[in-house]
Amino acid sequence: MNIDNLIDNERTIFLQTYNRLPIIIESARGNIIWDEDGTEYRDFIAGLAVNILGHSHPAVVDAAIRQTYKYMHVSNYFYQRIQIEFAMALTQISGYDRVFLTNSGTEANEGAIKLCRSWGFDKDKTEIIAFTGGFHGRTYGPLSLTERPQYKEKMGPFLNNMRIVEYNNSQALEEAVSEKTAGVLFEFIQGEGGLCSVTDEFIETICRLKDKYDFLIITDEIQTGIGRTGKFMASEHWNIKPDIATIAKGIGGGLPLGAILTREHLANVWKIGNHGSTFGGNAVACATGLAVINELQRGIMRNSLVVSDYFMLHLQAIAEDFPNCVEEIRGKGMMLGIVLKFEASILCRILLEEKKIITNATAGNVLRLLPPLITTKEDIICFVLAIRECLQNLFTEII
Ligand SMILES: Cc1ncc(COP(=O)(O)O)c(C=O)c1O
Repeated sequence: MNIDNLIDNERTIFLQTYNRLPIIIESARGNIIWDEDGTEYRDFIAGLAVNILGHSHPAVVDAAIRQTYKYMHVSNYFYQRIQIEFAMALTQISGYDRVFLTNSGTEANEGAIKLCRSWGFDKDKTEIIAFTGGFHGRTYGPLSLTERPQYKEKMGPFLNNMRIVEYNNSQALEEAVSEKTAGVLFEFIQGEGGLCSVTDEFIETICRLKDKYDFLIITDEIQTGIGRTGKFMASEHWNIKPDIATIAKGIGGGLPLGAILTREHLANVWKIGNHGSTFGGNAVACATGLAVINELQRGIMRNSLVVSDYFMLHLQAIAEDFPNCVEEIRGKGMMLGIVLKFEASILCRILLEEKKIITNATAGNVLRLLPPLITTKEDIICFVLAIRECLQNLFTEII
């Protein structure tokens, strides 16, 4: 079957919700993806922040195979050694006390919203506040806390008592918070929202308001977590201890896995039967999750910070050299954004077609870079030379 037939079939069979790149994947390893014609692409999005150790990392593949031979799924009706060992490793590396395992990011956030409401119920705290530019998933809870109209078109009505306030606007938050507030949900760096970081001042405001009104701080670390910013959890950069954090994406090493992480004081909010998931904590996903944590503990995060500092320096130099094209560089660790003065999808397409480099465009004018943590300085040099050449050509076209 040739590429056109396959793509035509996709168009006639699937509900058309994805804007896919025109590549049919054959295989992937490390930070390289091959298409069916043998063309090689350098991957700077890592499965949209999933393949933290690169594609098909041997330790992850090995863990999946070993667990698959033992058993793949038995349900949460049983105690499972692999699940408990994974949860213990996860609490140890994240600093959180309790875990509920899910299959995806939106499921983790959905559960976090439910947990927060359960916590607030007897205190008559019913409202949850989130922020402009935030993205928390596609099920109704997270979607009710997401601003982007395109994601919500004709899908209302949404959940009551959900408010969206301007990100990093302390005054707006002060005006929105009250005794009714059960929780405040935010991303430390907004992945879909253009790689904007939370300010120190805003974090101070959230903590001060929490002391005054007694609500839960919930952080969505689905994209920022699992070493993406150079620390296992991004909260470590800001030195705060949220009550709840949600993770997914990178933790499963490529298999669907997520978690609600909480502090001990929330351990007894839910009783048996209050929440559940058939596949959440699937044995094979837990095995790969444990392999991811073990690999991260071998120094990959430290190395990635060295490489990402190097990357940042080069990107800053590009911003200085191409002031007509680049507005600023945002982000931390291996979660970086080049804010452009034009549609990022243009540069994304040129990098793909001419340089065989895979990037992602978000928030209109932000080129999002989410390379795996195994990315080397040599990979960075390749990227930097390629993007300089593309910007040079574009710049010549612009003037
Ligand atoms: C910050 C954040 N939260 C939640 C989600 C939703 O995760 P999932 O697609 O696994 O449901 C995403 C996905 O991109 C995300 O980036």
